[in-house]
Amino acid sequence: MDGYYQCINCNARYETTSMAIACVKCNDLLQVRYDYASATPMDLDLWKSRPLSVWRYRELLPLGSKSRIISLGEGGTGLHRSEHLADDIKLKSLHVKFEGENPTGSFKDRGMTVSISKALEFQTKMVACASTGNTSASLAAYAARSGLRCIVLIPAAKIAQGKLAQAIAHGATILEIDGNFDDSLRAVVKLTERNPSIALLNSVNPFRIEGQKTLAFEVCDQLGFKPPDVLIVPVGNAGNISSIWKGFEELREVGIIDKLPRLVGIQAEGAAPLAEAYKSKRDLIQPVKNPETVATAIRIGSPASWKKALRAVAESRGTIETASDKEILQAQRDLARREGIFVEPAGASSIAGLRKLQNNGYFDHDERIVCVATGHGLKDPEIVMVDAKTTRTTSNIENIERILGLR
Ligand code: F0G
Repeated sequence: MDGYYQCINCNARYETTSMAIACVKCNDLLQVRYDYASATPMDLDLWKSRPLSVWRYRELLPLGSKSRIISLGEGGTGLHRSEHLADDIKLKSLHVKFEGENPTGSFKDRGMTVSISKALEFQTKMVACASTGNTSASLAAYAARSGLRCIVLIPAAKIAQGKLAQAIAHGATILEIDGNFDDSLRAVVKLTERNPSIALLNSVNPFRIEGQKTLAFEVCDQLGFKPPDVLIVPVGNAGNISSIWKGFEELREVGIIDKLPRLVGIQAEGAAPLAEAYKSKRDLIQPVKNPETVATAIRIGSPASWKKALRAVAESRGTIETASDKEILQAQRDLARREGIFVEPAGASSIAGLRKLQNNGYFDHDERIVCVATGHGLKDPEIVMVDAKTTRTTSNIENIERILGLR
């Protein structure tokens, strides 16, 4: 469907005839809006006739039926009923939406299929992003598939090796920036402002948000077009939580759901400017200068989409909580060992937050809760290798049986 850009601050409107990030009047972020009031009613049977994926919902996405879509099969990830964890945490209904099942192993692919397809429509030749790892892995893959040059800026200090390997494999030009993610993002914003031929595909790009909102569509779809009571999601740069809220709101706007979930964001304790602002009831964030956490994907001190995230959580009557590194690593182990779902540390922070909130009496017993597990555990194998317990032996069967306690 054709949309228009609207500024999140001054509501100025612009046509979507080129790639744009910020409002020319007030410099705040733009988002894509649609005239849903005059749209034809959504046809759920048509949706059901298509595979579960980002593009099942193309009537709610900003590309026409004739647009060229660059796809690697994104979305359609499992919503796994997690009974063991629910029992452990004493909850009645818990599902884990495992975004590690996406083509490059994280939710970023949802946004990338839309934004890269849009970049091609605008005849872009070069794309760039700053990243803690997953965005660069995803952008590198989609740029390779589209034949675009890809530039990624990553913090030199800390990035999970699996993610770096992906960017290398897909042939991106990789710049390791002396500094953290926030420094890398500032640099790439400047680079793309000074060189308009390079499209900025971070989650400040409105089309990334459009793709990522489909996570909300899928969750509702998988629950029989009913929203959960609570949805919990890890937060770093805050694009995803904003996208998911936009998705739920749009489903309500087109009349498919009539109730919205409470939205809960989880930040790592050492990188939690949004949680701080929320708790102290401030509507401005105080950036964290030196963010630190084992969950490198969300090691971000100055989230670009902070304003949208604070609004989303307030509108939904949800909350923003923190989880310590210890709680995050415990949640990663619990998901892997109790549910067979291997996620990277950032991806487990939603489960860590769930446990903490349950201990604080945040949930009603019969609430239906969905936790988003944002990225695959294979992205960051070093984290779990420190726990490696293996036993070296000869292939002698009696030795093996002895070690296994079978003799
Ligand atoms: N979980 C994972 C696995 C991530 O990679 C990210 C963000 C988040 C959660 C947080 O999402 O930023 O939209 O709030 N990773 C970005 C990157 C920053 O560069 O890959 P967010």
